[in-house]
Amino acid sequence: MADQDAQFPAGAEPPALPTLRWEEPPEGPVLVLLDQTRLPAQEVELVCTDVPALVQAIQSLAVRGAPVLGLAGAYGVALAAARGYDVDEAVGLLERARPTAVNLGSGVRHAAAAYRAAVEKGADSGRAAAAALAAARELHRADAEASVRMAAHGLALLEELLPGGGHRILTHCNTGALVSGGEGTAFAVALAAHRTGRLRRLWVDETRPLLQGARLTTYEAARHGMAYTLLTDNAAGSLFAAGEVDAVLIGADRIAADGSVANKVGSYPLAVLAKYHHVPFIVVAPVTTVDLGTPDGASIEVEQRSGQEVTEFTVPSVSVAGSDAGIGVGMPVAPLGTQAYNPAFDVTPPELVTAIVTEQGAISPVTGAALAELCARSRQV
Ligand code: MRU
Repeated sequence: MADQDAQFPAGAEPPALPTLRWEEPPEGPVLVLLDQTRLPAQEVELVCTDVPALVQAIQSLAVRGAPVLGLAGAYGVALAAARGYDVDEAVGLLERARPTAVNLGSGVRHAAAAYRAAVEKGADSGRAAAAALAAARELHRADAEASVRMAAHGLALLEELLPGGGHRILTHCNTGALVSGGEGTAFAVALAAHRTGRLRRLWVDETRPLLQGARLTTYEAARHGMAYTLLTDNAAGSLFAAGEVDAVLIGADRIAADGSVANKVGSYPLAVLAKYHHVPFIVVAPVTTVDLGTPDGASIEVEQRSGQEVTEFTVPSVSVAGSDAGIGVGMPVAPLGTQAYNPAFDVTPPELVTAIVTEQGAISPVTGAALAELCARSRQV
């Protein structure tokens, strides 16, 4: 286990991560992304000048995580409109780029609706593009605000479930500022616990096969001076058995109407472990991740990724000898021709979820009725 204790003086805050931003240089508008395939070795920006480049960035996980995929999708529509690309075609390409995170499609449709409404009102192409951009910016602002509120609600829930602080929190995948317009979802709650002196340790699952935990969550935790320890995914069981986990905090890619939660593969086994060991299993996600149109867990489309991500051990730039390639080039670890099962996500049934925390508050127990009520409340705001 790699161990990392607090490195920075308490109260010293790092600058916000440049996860994604819109820029308008003289050559035309661009969407600038922090290339997450190269973290933590290199902080490299990826400049998307067109929709195919953005689709490639989404599929290669240069930009990833449900909330920020919604923002990328919305800005992608704005980019298409501003650059004179066929907006309907852009919508199709972006919506289909990855299937599981509901935010991607809803972000795309949100900006496309603003664009189409402007066109219907007689706006010229420039004004219609501006309407799409305004919609993307509004989504960005709302996501940042949701992040602050989720952190507050999550912290209050932790205090209720585990009074007195000293939390040892286990997390999976990456759910911080790299996935959000703000400080993230589950990670934002852990960060709030850290800032209020309640976090004893953040246990970080490495998150096979693309190491979002090992590469990205540790990167974010180190920036904030949090006390964290990295573990392999399959070490989690022994950590629970040793009584070292007080709560699990994860994000979500899609929450179905019955409360089933799709999240990074490996989340479901953690939920089973948490249930067995009587540890709260808490999902933190904005209301935009709830999809009442998907009735249950079985109806969630789980992205299947290339087996190469498993048959090769792929580490970003640093460890691929002599190469500065990001994710996608690796050292073979299995005989040539080995088949691999590589779902990007799994689905946790609601009965294993202690609570779902959103910007509108938390629900516990997790039921379809409670979720529907939460979404209705959100629409009234
Ligand atoms: O394949 P990824 O890296 O896009 O998967 C991301 C996750 O599973 C996150 O946990 C999820 O999107 C929630 S982020 C708030």
